[in-house]
Order: sequence, then structure tokens, then C-alpha cells
Amino acid sequence: MINNPAAFYSKAALNIKRSEIRELLKFTRQPSIISFAGGYPDPKTFPIKDLEDISCQILREKGATALQYGPTEGEESLREEIAKWMYREKSSIRPDNILITAGSQQGLDIISKTFLDPNDIVILELPSYIGGLQAFNAYRAKMVGVPHDDEGMRIDLLERILAELEKEIQKPKFIYVVPDFQNPSGITMSLERRQRLLEVAYRYEIPILEDSPYRDLRYAGDSVPAIYSLDTQNHVIVLGTFSKLLCPGLRIAWTMAPTEWMERLVAAKQGMDLCSPTYTQLIVAEYLKRGLLPKQIEKIRHIYGEKLKVMLEALEKYMPQGVSWSHPKGGLFLWIELPKQVNTTNLFPKAIKNKVAYVIGSAFHCDGKGTNTMRVNFSYPSEPQIVEGIRRLAKMLKEHI
Ligand SMILES: Cc1ncc(COP(=O)(O)O)c(C=O)c1O
Repeated sequence: MINNPAAFYSKAALNIKRSEIRELLKFTRQPSIISFAGGYPDPKTFPIKDLEDISCQILREKGATALQYGPTEGEESLREEIAKWMYREKSSIRPDNILITAGSQQGLDIISKTFLDPNDIVILELPSYIGGLQAFNAYRAKMVGVPHDDEGMRIDLLERILAELEKEIQKPKFIYVVPDFQNPSGITMSLERRQRLLEVAYRYEIPILEDSPYRDLRYAGDSVPAIYSLDTQNHVIVLGTFSKLLCPGLRIAWTMAPTEWMERLVAAKQGMDLCSPTYTQLIVAEYLKRGLLPKQIEKIRHIYGEKLKVMLEALEKYMPQGVSWSHPKGGLFLWIELPKQVNTTNLFPKAIKNKVAYVIGSAFHCDGKGTNTMRVNFSYPSEPQIVEGIRRLAKMLKEHI
């Protein structure tokens, strides 16, 4: 028998923490709890009929290929369709720039494996996507947070941090941003900030990692150009995914990178899974080929746009003085800020007792701050659940504050 199993773990494995969201989600399984905690799409949006039809066709016509191993880079037909989808924003995208991954979460892991040595610096937003923190942490990166405001990452503060690091002869490996309807805050980076971010990245010669799963989920206002579409110097790696547009269960996503980085990224992926599932890749390729995605996105926009409206109205109606929240124009999340003395981690058990769940804000902060904040999701609960859940949350906060 091994007496001390932990003594055998690598330093990297010991550094890997389980996501606080995933841990919290265990509590929210009870049907009586209204959960604003996950980032789940509404299953009513899943195009089940189309996918059933396409799945049968793939098995009938391409069964031998669909059930076989495939290239590590991904199925050519899918990479072509994704490149076409990306042409909308930048016409120089080629299938060779696309690497298919099992969710963009795998893309984050592949990029971390490719770029990060222990103690390497990653710059990210405060707050930032928890799965990004998890991936960078697993490779023992040092994360440096840059606060953001209503327009996204504060580039003036980024410049100050980069100048300080330069004095210490330290160069970050990349700047990680979720510029569209950010998870967790719902904030979208303004065009001016995107342009300044690129200028700063060029000046300091640092790649940008643009993670944008919510870009097409806009419910109001005009789209802001993607950072990669403004990039003229091959500085941007993009993560895209079908999780929020089609469904997360297929696990089809992509990493789009300048040609010079592709070979290493493919090699890093090869050791993880040899290839992504061929069957689901061919299903998504056919879905795109049939031109079904724009209509699907329209449907989702309508459903989530209504839910967002309902949540904003409920917040307005029920929340006590001293509570503020973001007003996103898309995505799946809204960010709530409470008076400084309120600690959302300590409040969480009480929320569960009141049959409502959220994600604690500190989980999204690489510096452990944000203890008076929380993230709430509006895509998964029904409209009546949103109203009732916000009412419960507000009642609890009123009592506490
Ligand atoms: C910003 C961001 N990146 C990546 C992911 C991972 O998505 P998936 O692995 O399902 O593609 C998510 C999921 O919520 C996300 O919000």
C-alpha cells in the first residue's frame, strides 16, 4: 500500500485546483434551487431535430470515416467551414490557421502547454474567466490582473504594469482577454480600447489571446470589430466555440492562430487526444454547410435577449440600495456588486438555504479579491425562475445589508 499518495504527484498536478463553480454546481442540482450559477445554455435552444437528421446522414453516407481516427488538426471540411465563418470578419483566415479542439477549454490547455513554463507571466482581466485561471494555474504561470471598467481592460493600467515588468526584465507570455460580453462581467471592450490594446501589444511584442465564445450573442446595439480583425501584425490567437451557439455536448471548438504557431499547437494537442471526435466534427461541418447557423443564432438571441430583459427588470424591482449590476448587451452573464463589507462566499450557504445559487466573485479574481461580487447567469433558468430567483436573492441581501 502507498502510505502517502500525494508525495507522488508532480508539482504541476498539485497546482491544479478544481473549479469553484463546478464544486458549487453540486449544490444546485436539487430541483428546488433556482440556479444562476452555471453557464449552461437553455436546452430549448438545442437544434435537436436538425442534428438528428444530420447525424443519421453522416452515419449512412460517411460512417466509416465518422467512426475512424482523424487528423490532429481536425477534419478538413470543418476547418474550411469555420474559416468561411471567420471570413466575415477577416478575409485572410485560412483552414490551415484552424485547429479543432474539444471545447475551447481544451484550446486554453493547449495554448498553456505550448507557451507557459513555471513562473511565466500571463496578463489577464480582473475579473477573468475561471477556466482560463484554471488552465494557466495548471502550468504554474504567474497571473497578473488588470482591472477593467465599463469599456473593458484599463489599458492605462496595463501599460503601467508592462513598464514595471520591463524594468524587472520580465516579459509576459500573452495577454488573455474575453472582449465580448465577458464571462463573468458581461462587459464588452470598446473599439478604442481594442485598438489601444493592439498598439500596446505591438510595442511590447506580446501576443494577445482573444477568447470570444459570446461574440455572436448580441441582443442590442452594434457589434464592435473583433481584435483579430483589427490585427495587422499576426499578434492574436483566437478561441472560438460552438458550445453556446449550437450545444456544448458536441464539444466542438477551435483555436485560430497565425501560421508560425500552428505546428507547435498541433504537436501539443497530439499528446492529449490524438484527434477530436471525428463524428461530431462531421456533424458540425454539415450543419454549417447547410447554412443553418445564422437562423439558430437568431433564435438564441431572441430567447436570451428576453431573459436578460426579465433579469434586469427584476433586479431593478427587488434589489436594495447599495447593490449595483452590469447592463450587458449580450452573452449569458451579469455581474453584481454589493457594498464592500458583504462577503459573497460567506453568504453562499444562506443563499442555498433560500434556494437560490450564484457564483462567488472572488473565484474570478487571480488576486483573490472581489469578495463583494457575484456572477449570475440568465440563459439557463426560465423567465419565471429568473424573477423568483432574483426576488429570493434580493430578500436575502436586504436582510444582510
Ligand atoms: C470565456 C470562456 N472561454 C472558454 C469557455 C469554454 O467553453 P467550451 O469549452 O465549452 O468551448 C467558456 C465557457 O463558459 C467561457 O466562458
